[in-house]
Amino acid sequence: MWIFSWKGPTGFSASSTAEEVTQGIEAYGLTAVITGPTSGIGLETARILVLRGVHVVMAVRNTTAGQKIKQQLIDQVPKAKIDVMELDVSSLKSVGKFVTEFKASGFPLNILIANAGMMAPPFSLSEDNIELQLATNHIGHFHLTNGLLETMKNTAKKSGIQGRIVILSSELHKMGYKEGVRFDKINDEKSYNALLAYGQSKLANALHAEELARQLKEEGVNITVNSLHPGVIATNLARHTAWMRVVFGYVVRLFLKNVEQGASTTCYLALHPGAKGISGEYWADNNISTPSGFVNDPEFCKKFWDFSVELVDRVLTTSAL
Ligand SMILES: NC(=O)c1ccc[n+]([C@@H]2O[C@H](COP(=O)([O-])OP(=O)(O)OC[C@H]3O[C@@H](n4cnc5c(N)ncnc54)[C@H](OP(=O)(O)O)[C@@H]3O)[C@@H](O)[C@H]2O)c1
Repeated sequence: MWIFSWKGPTGFSASSTAEEVTQGIEAYGLTAVITGPTSGIGLETARILVLRGVHVVMAVRNTTAGQKIKQQLIDQVPKAKIDVMELDVSSLKSVGKFVTEFKASGFPLNILIANAGMMAPPFSLSEDNIELQLATNHIGHFHLTNGLLETMKNTAKKSGIQGRIVILSSELHKMGYKEGVRFDKINDEKSYNALLAYGQSKLANALHAEELARQLKEEGVNITVNSLHPGVIATNLARHTAWMRVVFGYVVRLFLKNVEQGASTTCYLALHPGAKGISGEYWADNNISTPSGFVNDPEFCKKFWDFSVELVDRVLTTSAL
C-alpha cells in the first residue's frame, strides 16, 4: 500500500525491511540477548543481527527448538555466532537462573531485546501467580532487564559503545483497560478481558521503557531504552484465539506488514547510528511515534515501576528464589 512507503525523518518507512534499515552496518564485536527468537519478529531479528555480525544469545524456553533454529540460522549465515540459553520469561525462577548463567558465561552485553510475548489467552496465572500476559510480556522482562543491567553498564563503560535496550510494545497499548493498569485487579478473573489485558501488558512495556530511560539518563549511564510497535504482522502471536488466527492468517497476511518489515524497527533501534542517543521514545515504522497519555505521565510511569518492583519482591520473598 502506498501509505506504507511514506518515509519519516529517519529516511525509512513502514515498508522498509530489517535488512534495508541495517544495510552496510558492521556490528562485529557486539553481543545481544533476544527473548523469543524462535518465531515471527524475534526470529527475523535474530537473523538480521547475526547477518550484521552480532553475537546473538537466543533466550528460549524450548532449547531443542532453539538449537534447531540456531542451525537454520547458521545454514543461512555461516559466520553466525550464536548461543542458545534457556529462559521461560513467565517464570521469575527461570529468569533468575538465566541471569546467573549469563553472568557466569562472561559474555559482554551491548543490546537487550525484550521481544517474547503472547496475546489474548483465556485467563490463567503464571507459576508465580501473576496473570499470564502481564507475567510473560512485562514482569519477566522487567526482572530480566534489572538482572542484566550491571553487565550492560560494565560493557558500555569498558567499550565506550552505547548500550541499547529495545522493548516490544504494541499500538494496542492504547486500547487496554480504561484506567491503563488495574493495579488492584491484576488477577481478577471475573472482569478479565483477554484483549484488554494484552493492551495492559503492552502498556506495561512502554511504561517500563519510559521510566528506565529516565532513571538511566539521571544516572548518566550510556544506555538507551526505547519501546516500539512493530506493525501488524501475521505471526504465531494469534495462536491462543480462534477468530484471531483467521484474521492473522488471511487479512493480516494479505494487507499488512510481512515479518521482514515487522522486524525492522527493532533492528533499527538495536543497530542504526540514527538511533544513537535517543532514549525514552516510543517508535513505530522506523520512526519516533506517539504513545498513550499514560506513557507521557512521569508519575504514572514511576507508580507502575514501583508496582512492578513490589510484585517481583513479593514473589521472590514468598518463594525464597
Ligand atoms: N505480530 C504482531 O502483529 C505484533 C503486533 C504488535 C506487537 N507485537 C509484539 O511483538 C513481539 C513478538 O511477537 P510475534 O508476533 O513475533 O509472536 P510469535 O510469532 O508468537 O513469537 C513469540 C515469541 O515469544 C516466545 N515466548 C512466548 N512466551 C514465552 C515464554 N514464556 N518464555 C520465553 N519465550 C516465550 C515464543 O516462543 P515459543 O516458540 O516457545 O512459543 C516466540 O519465540 C511480542 O512481544 C508481541 O506482543 C506483535
